Amino acid sequence: MNNRITISDLYKNKQKSKIVMLTCYTAPIAKILDNHVDILLVGDSLGMTVYGHNNTLSVTKRMMIDHGKCVVDNSKNALVVIDLPFGSYETDKIRAFDTAAEIISKTNANAVKLEGGKEISETVDFIVSRGIPVMGHLGLMPQKINLKGKFLSVGKNKIEEKKILDDAKSLSEAGVFSFVLEAMKSELAKKITKNFDTISLGIGAGQHCDGQVLVIDDLLGLFGNFTPKFVKKYSDLKSIIDKSVKQFSKDVKDRKFPTKKYSY
Ligand code: KIV
Repeated sequence: MNNRITISDLYKNKQKSKIVMLTCYTAPIAKILDNHVDILLVGDSLGMTVYGHNNTLSVTKRMMIDHGKCVVDNSKNALVVIDLPFGSYETDKIRAFDTAAEIISKTNANAVKLEGGKEISETVDFIVSRGIPVMGHLGLMPQKINLKGKFLSVGKNKIEEKKILDDAKSLSEAGVFSFVLEAMKSELAKKITKNFDTISLGIGAGQHCDGQVLVIDDLLGLFGNFTPKFVKKYSDLKSIIDKSVKQFSKDVKDRKFPTKKYSY
């Protein structure tokens, strides 16, 4: 039986309790996170965190399916959302639906996430009306990195702010059940959260959103390339792993491992 949190559950509880989402890409982490979050996001950030690429543009449908299936198979409580990778949905709504349908049918995940505003609202409407729930993604959109050349916060002037508000309106009307609001002023995220019933999930968007999301590797202190201002590190796994492996290596070289206790 499927006892996962549903989109209706999220809407029912959003006034009472903030929604928690974390990215997740692997089985052992899925098993742990599943006890603590409402939504597991198989984000295309895995191109950077798992595969060590400079950005998310090289992520493929195959990668999203493999990691997505693994996260679904190793969790039982959280709603699972999978990112559509760059280049797999932007050109037209039929291609976008085909990509989303293949990802959902091969992973058994609950929803997909797309980056973009007004320019993808027709696509969102097409996908949602054919049975696949969609999460939007506004503000800093990592798949558009090459337009600016850097990961920069957005909504810094009235024109940008208006564009983001218009984008939120058209995504909401197209039927997204939620949107990620990334790297924008808290006041703008607050306005979006107040204006639309759609669930807002902030990442670097202040405290007024309906919920919060972080990249798990950032939260755990495992991703070392750079740490955005909005990341709070709850752990320093990188140095814990470094210390542990250094000690193992020393023990082997010093012939202190394995001892009798670890031998047959
Ligand atoms: O790919 C991802 O991990 C994301 C989060 C940053 C929200 O989109």
